[in-house]
Amino acid sequence: MSRSIGLNETLTEYVRAMNPQEHPALKHCREETAKREDARMQVSPEQGALMAFLARLTGAKIALEVGVYTGYSALAVAMAMKERHGEDARLYALDISPDLIAIAEGYWAEGDVADVIQPVIGDARRSLSELASEDLAEQVDFMFVDADKTGYGDYYAAALTLLRPGGIILFDNVLWSGSVADPAKTDADTEALRALAKRVRDDDRVEQVFTAVGDGLLIAMKKP
Ligand SMILES: C[S@@+](CC[C@H](N)C(=O)[O-])C[C@H]1O[C@@H](n2cnc3c(N)ncnc32)[C@H](O)[C@@H]1O
Repeated sequence: MSRSIGLNETLTEYVRAMNPQEHPALKHCREETAKREDARMQVSPEQGALMAFLARLTGAKIALEVGVYTGYSALAVAMAMKERHGEDARLYALDISPDLIAIAEGYWAEGDVADVIQPVIGDARRSLSELASEDLAEQVDFMFVDADKTGYGDYYAAALTLLRPGGIILFDNVLWSGSVADPAKTDADTEALRALAKRVRDDDRVEQVFTAVGDGLLIAMKKP
């Protein structure tokens, strides 16, 4: 069977070396975050590079991220958007933790994108419904979902309101370290990720691709 290969450390280093050079602010964020016990929550630099590329490809000007942590993915996307749109770019950065947002803000300032990132602190379900009822409905070009897995279904429903036709949404961790394909795993997170993958696949309002990038990255586009 032809399939994606697993990456050992050497190959991971090769992939990183063949990607564009990481901006110093991204590198600083990654190296400092690596000292934390929960560092595995951070996206990989190659995933950050892919996300920045997709933001450029789609010409994204308004983006929304659910799950900021120490700010790496938001920083990568915001820098790509600001490059193209200057101060008109806007990234809404949603996280439940004010402490994490405060850490992220330091790196965003280093990357000169603090002025285009708007932190939104609180439970993302509530924040998304507030943003949708304000003026963001059908305005968002790019969304990244990387928070509590049991919320993914609700985040998808909100995304269909928030995304403009042709806008894209990325869901992280859809492989959940392989658990989704193990019938013995029936915990709430795994079940939520399985349900989301089927729901997006079978939804004719979107085009989608389920990729094995990182821990699995599901990308969907709201049909124009
Ligand atoms: C996997 S980390 C995000 C990693 C980040 N995208 C990066 O590039 O490093 C998940 C984040 O989601 C946040 N989170 C968890 N549940 C949440 C919720 N219900 N609403 C908002 N944020 C939440 C956590 O505080 C944590 O910072």
